[in-house]
Amino acid sequence: MVDLINLVQTLTSPHPLDRYLELVRPTLTLRDMRAEITRVRHSAPGSVTLTLRPTRQWKGHQAGQYVQLGVVIDGVRHTRCYSPVNPEGGRDRHIELTVKAHPGGVVSPFLYHNAVPGMVVDLTPADGMFRLPEPRPERLLLISGGSGITPVLSMLRTLAAESHRGEVVFLHYAKSPAVLPHRAELDAIARRHPNFRIELRHPHRPERIDPGAPWIDLARPKGSGYFDYDELERVAPWFADAQTYVCGPQSLMDAVRKIYQAEQWDDRLHTEEFTLSVAAADAARAHGTVNFSASRVSAENNGATLLEQAESAGLSPEYGCRMGICFSCTAVRRAGCTRNLRTGETDSDPDQPIQLCISAPVGDVDIDI
Ligand code: FES
Repeated sequence: MVDLINLVQTLTSPHPLDRYLELVRPTLTLRDMRAEITRVRHSAPGSVTLTLRPTRQWKGHQAGQYVQLGVVIDGVRHTRCYSPVNPEGGRDRHIELTVKAHPGGVVSPFLYHNAVPGMVVDLTPADGMFRLPEPRPERLLLISGGSGITPVLSMLRTLAAESHRGEVVFLHYAKSPAVLPHRAELDAIARRHPNFRIELRHPHRPERIDPGAPWIDLARPKGSGYFDYDELERVAPWFADAQTYVCGPQSLMDAVRKIYQAEQWDDRLHTEEFTLSVAAADAARAHGTVNFSASRVSAENNGATLLEQAESAGLSPEYGCRMGICFSCTAVRRAGCTRNLRTGETDSDPDQPIQLCISAPVGDVDIDI
């Protein structure tokens, strides 16, 4: 069968067979994975939850992993990473993605305003090391902030679906209770599972305290940070025996990391970053020339990432997340030195693959795009 497919691919060259099949039906593909949006819900202000039915290539996800979703907007294909919020192992082969519309963004506002049932999007297999381990740890502390809720919500829902018997704390930081998606489901989980504790933090006082509420809904004291040792001891006094999973804004991640590093519990902490924390481009100190040799284009190094400098030079390298997660932007550095903006490390070995979105040139550099 594989030989037959390869033969047909050869006959349809230079275009892959999927380019012809999509003219018949966009979800009829041999190799490319796609998904049809089957349901669209605006479940919280500023967020949209999409239910997708993937094509037959979908092999499922593990709670916490991400997929790349691709859409064409004004003739340009854009890809972004999203973590499914549904529990892993569901039999219906559907994926649920909750997308927060970021002001100034491209893909998230597009999906928020334009996604409709029947729309077909590109999809990649689930990936990522941020996932619930097997066997499940007895005690789990799940911490998230803002749109970082998505991977840990999938973990919580998975543990609930498995009727996990150990202790679970889900601590979420939101701008306000109103913007929290999936609140009704969180209520239901808290009611059904007395060993699960769900706590929400936000900067506003609740309009009314509901004594029958299944979870704790607390205003953060004014001026307080995201997370500190007292908070950790209060929500999960058994944290030293637990595995902790965190996803959210950099300030939250840093606050949690600081405590775990100080206590030397790094091996019990698992993090996922959906925002890129990098040093700002330093145009004043930037020097040298960036040579995009395959395109025969050169530009003065302005200190920005190589992805941004390539785009400024009129090139269109492939990219996805723009934050060092998906590796879509990987290209070969033929010569010169680059700095990884996430780690701060510099590297000048020739002919090495680098991620353009998190790499900046240090002097002259030659990139093979
Ligand atoms: S665009 Fe995803 S790693 Fe660079």
